Amino acid sequence: MADSVVKVLGICGSLRKGSYNRAALRAASELLPDGMSLTAADIAECPLYNEDVRQAGFPPPVQKLREAIAAADALLIVTPEYNYSMPGVLKNAIDWASRPPDQPFNGKPVAIMGATAGLWGTSRAQYHLRQSCVFLNMLPINKPEVLIAQAQNKFDAEGRLTDQTTRDLIAQLLVALRDWTHRLAPR
Ligand SMILES: Cc1cc2nc3c(=O)[nH]c(=O)nc-3n(C[C@H](O)[C@H](O)[C@H](O)COP(=O)(O)O)c2cc1C
Repeated sequence: MADSVVKVLGICGSLRKGSYNRAALRAASELLPDGMSLTAADIAECPLYNEDVRQAGFPPPVQKLREAIAAADALLIVTPEYNYSMPGVLKNAIDWASRPPDQPFNGKPVAIMGATAGLWGTSRAQYHLRQSCVFLNMLPINKPEVLIAQAQNKFDAEGRLTDQTTRDLIAQLLVALRDWTHRLAPR
């Protein structure tokens, strides 16, 4: 963080074009506070995890993801909820990136948010993701929780986040992530 701009890597757990979660990540990029930048990772090309493949070397999309995570000052993970947990594509990307050497999640500040058409706003998926954060020694911020329920009422047909309360919450989350990252930075 030499220039004191907090560089955030966004990771979206949905691959579909019209994804509410991708739309929420786009909204975050509009709501960045001063001193923060955001780029989005691509996890679509990560193959299914296979230890035999890893032994032969990380596939290029995984290597790229690992390098992007390592280079970021902080992460913003935006996850749908699939069957009360995070989607397989997100878990698969985390599993790949988490393998040694130099596990890039170690000590990384992270913010989590998620959107669903359901009523509980991805709370269960976020809870499972937080469990993975513990094992990988990521440092997630606790508050605010950004649980975007009934997403179909909060985004318009173009995928723009129209719900002001949710926009305010995401803005608060980003400020919290920026400040948390500065607090954790080596002095
Ligand atoms: C396999 C699958 C499982 C799902 N399970 C849940 C669930 O447990 N809880 C929930 O709120 N929504 C669930 N949903 C609905 C998703 O939250 C909804 O499809 C959401 O729009 C996905 O995120 P996206 O718009 O970013 O792709 C599920 C959808 C799929 C495809």
